Amino acid sequence: MNPLEEGLSLRRKPDSCVLVIFGASGDLTHKKLMPALYALMVRRLLPEHFAIVGVARSEADDDAFRGDMKEAVKKYGRDEFRDDTWDELASNMRYVATDFSDQTGEDKLEQLLEELDGQHKLGGNRLYYLAVPPVAHPTIVEALGKRRSHATGWARVIVEKPFGHDLESARSLNELLQQYFTEDEIFRIDHYLGKETVQNMLALRFANGIFEPIWNRQFVDHVQITVAESIGIEGRASFYESAGAIRDIFQNHMLQLLALTAMEPPIDFTAESVRNEKVKVLRALHTPGPKSVVRGQYGRGYVEGVEVPAYREEEGVARDSMTETYVAAKLFVDNWRWADTPFYVRMGKRLARRETTIAIQFKRAPHPPFEETTAEGLRPNVLIVHVQPDEGVSLAIGAKVPGQGMRIRTVHMDFLYGGAFRTGMPEAYERLILDAMLGDGTLFTRADEVEEQWLLVDAMVAAWQRDRPAFPNYASGTWGPPSADELLHRDGRSWRRH
Ligand code: BG6
Repeated sequence: MNPLEEGLSLRRKPDSCVLVIFGASGDLTHKKLMPALYALMVRRLLPEHFAIVGVARSEADDDAFRGDMKEAVKKYGRDEFRDDTWDELASNMRYVATDFSDQTGEDKLEQLLEELDGQHKLGGNRLYYLAVPPVAHPTIVEALGKRRSHATGWARVIVEKPFGHDLESARSLNELLQQYFTEDEIFRIDHYLGKETVQNMLALRFANGIFEPIWNRQFVDHVQITVAESIGIEGRASFYESAGAIRDIFQNHMLQLLALTAMEPPIDFTAESVRNEKVKVLRALHTPGPKSVVRGQYGRGYVEGVEVPAYREEEGVARDSMTETYVAAKLFVDNWRWADTPFYVRMGKRLARRETTIAIQFKRAPHPPFEETTAEGLRPNVLIVHVQPDEGVSLAIGAKVPGQGMRIRTVHMDFLYGGAFRTGMPEAYERLILDAMLGDGTLFTRADEVEEQWLLVDAMVAAWQRDRPAFPNYASGTWGPPSADELLHRDGRSWRRH
């Protein structure tokens, strides 16, 4: 098979359809969605008959939209730009300017969709992508829902994060969506689930016989999950001020990583079976109390040698903002597999470097028959899933240092994606857009999962009302506030060294 197509196989060709992107002038469309569509086009993975309609408030015509998207693909695409490939993708690309504040916009869009359907034989199939802020969701969902009864083909809706702001708003959004769409037509995106290395956690656990017997409280001392970013808020102050790290990363990406790490083996890889197991983990999850959660906000500092401002100095951020840009927590999964095994998680912006890892630290060997001094460089076995960058898996083991005597040191057995597969890693959005076109919801979050995630977050945020940490409490370019280290030191442990 052509290495370009390995992984995203040609056998997965979706039905003809139109993709309607709401929020077409936004960052996500430029940086992620359009480059992903182009990458799918390069690999001939898009449906045989396919059209794209961009919808946004700003006035523009089809040509201006195509021009803008072309620049975005050139800038953010992972493949070499080719005019012929682009022209093919852009030939059925249209634009509608509307904010849905009146019926005219809805009518214009509907007319265009019918026209495209007739022209390109799209079978009446529609995939709607809501890449707009949550305030715009209700109007759009209702506008789409009302017209469903006339439709001939399938209709599916992808909803970008954040999915609500708390449990209550997420519930109302779920109810609204469910008035018009069935659960298997709703695709709540958490793009971490589209990452190859995140899916590899499932392969690692369930395609290998050796890990599962030791993947439990008897053998695992604790788990550490790190989602560290060196970037700041990238001009997204208005969103970030109301979200903070807990809603931006913890509520979704972090909890999904944890659920995949802790879940029971599903009986098969259907959307229902996988999500049933994940939701059980989320239901069993709790923090032992407010002392087990640490929050932080970055001050000035140096990231990769460059001086950067404090969070409170970023444009659009309140000078006395109490928004957290860092969260660390100790969590427990109350079930037979994991009872009493801490899951330490941390995530933050402006940390020393970009790193997403899941580290399973095993218990020490019960009785090393060596003298203490010979094994002083020896640490417990750790299995590390490197989600990004340096995608791969490594296992820390003790090995004999060559030479006289018996000195033991920790070394790493590494599997690196780049070395093993020699193929570029697909972007998460390529996989997810294709899956939604195929109607496969396995890598999307189900209504009950999102609600369980909010239940935990709401409880943590409520506990925060009782105190007011002195922000900023960590310098940019470090690994977070000292209180995050203390969280582990209290248990006689420490964060993994980098
Ligand atoms: C997004 C968050 O969901 O994920 C951003 O809103 C964050 O704040 C981004 O930077 C990280 O994604 P990735 O794929 O670069 O790890």
